[in-house]
Amino acid sequence: MRAVSASVLLILVVWVSSFGESNADCCWTRAKLIFTMGNGSCGMVNARSTRYGCEITVCADGMVLVGSYCGKGSCNLFGCFCRGGCRRGNFGESFVEINRRYEINLISTQLKMANVTDTEA
Ligand SMILES: *[C@@H]1O[C@H](CO)[C@@H](O)[C@H](O)[C@H]1NC(C)=O
Ligand SMILES: *[C@@H]1O[C@H](CO)[C@@H](O)[C@H](O)[C@H]1NC(C)=O
Repeated sequence: MRAVSASVLLILVVWVSSFGESNADCCWTRAKLIFTMGNGSCGMVNARSTRYGCEITVCADGMVLVGSYCGKGSCNLFGCFCRGGCRRGNFGESFVEINRRYEINLISTQLKMANVTDTEA
């Protein structure tokens, strides 16, 4: 529990500092979502099926994480100085919005940072 709140704090710090819109931002924050679907199966949104429901890792804009970081364009080796800055949005909410026709019910949203809290819970 303590580890979780520490990482959430860390994420908030990065998140708040990323409102600055500077290209020096590091696009490390992503969210692991667990959800069920009213219409369709996990694979239809590129999620993995687990015994708790579907699981997927998305960037803030609700799109599947591709590669290691959540920049709009390519980032440097450390996930910073991404072309176009970081993807923006509300993680799980954005995912639900984008995939409205699949009637997504979020069970949990776990914010994570690349290489910092990137371990399985
Ligand atoms: C972070 O982890 C990714 C794999 O998830 C790896 O490709 C990348 O090099 C790591 N970045 C740093 C700074 O260690
Ligand atoms: C269920 O998903 C399919 C796409 O796979 C879509 O065509 C259909 O409209 C959806 N049904 C509802 C009720 O949204």
